[in-house]
Amino acid sequence: MLLKGKEVANQIKEEIAKEVQSIVSKGVRPPHLVAVLVGEDGASKTYVKNKELACEKVGFSSTLVRLPDTTSEEELLAKIEEINNDDEIDGLIVQLPLPKHISEHNITQAINPAKDVDGFHDVSVGRLSKGQDTFISATPYGITQLLDRYNIETKGKHCVVVGRSNIVGRPMSILMSGSNKTGNATVTICHRHTVDLKKYTVMADILIVAVGIPEFITADMVKEGATVIDVGITRVDADNKKGYVLKGDVNFDQVEEVAGYITPVPGGVGPMTIIGLMQNTLKSHQAKFNV
Ligand code: GUN
Repeated sequence: MLLKGKEVANQIKEEIAKEVQSIVSKGVRPPHLVAVLVGEDGASKTYVKNKELACEKVGFSSTLVRLPDTTSEEELLAKIEEINNDDEIDGLIVQLPLPKHISEHNITQAINPAKDVDGFHDVSVGRLSKGQDTFISATPYGITQLLDRYNIETKGKHCVVVGRSNIVGRPMSILMSGSNKTGNATVTICHRHTVDLKKYTVMADILIVAVGIPEFITADMVKEGATVIDVGITRVDADNKKGYVLKGDVNFDQVEEVAGYITPVPGGVGPMTIIGLMQNTLKSHQAKFNV
């Protein structure tokens, strides 16, 4: 069965839009998200555009700050400081990856944790790892909500996460093992040095894959009836108008035959990621205005 992220995301967007209407009806300004995009990366431009469209759909204000790829780290830090100090802005994201001469660590740590709607600041990550209320990075947050909306039991299940990135794999493993509604799973985290990956993936009741390698997971690696969450979305050259097709980390055609539930690519995890970001921005606004 397909886990239709796009459908669930549209439902949640309607819920958020109603909240925004209620906020505005009380005379309070709507939530405001700022995205900073440095350079010309094609995929990043698409992601940022989708975030802007989602803001528009739910009634948030959004601002895109575009900077050339020659921007220095100091200039970017100055921009972040300006946004940190602007009371009219609730959420700030700096789209990754950044040009090589800019330290992602320095940039993510410069964002005011109260506006860190990507959940990348060490304060947010630390709070997450201790099970405290915080901004949860958008992709893992979106995935937990997709599991929740489809009533997929996680308690006592074996969840295998493939990939240990700071953006997805690591926070995902923390959430799935945490003491929360979509947690309480036993979690195994696998990565490039895992010996005999298949030995672990076939044990998964819930298999979450975020490695960025198209069609990496094949049917023989998946247990019958497992829930398979595919975070990958890679542009693969193709002979069509766009010149590429989007491929997940899971060989969909094979794995859908064995999986109980599976996310499509596109239309699975991607739209849920944007929902996580919208919810974090709303949360930041609520912390300020309490309406
Ligand atoms: N690059 C890939 N995923 C993300 C994300 O969730 N947020 C930001 N800021 N950059 C990304």
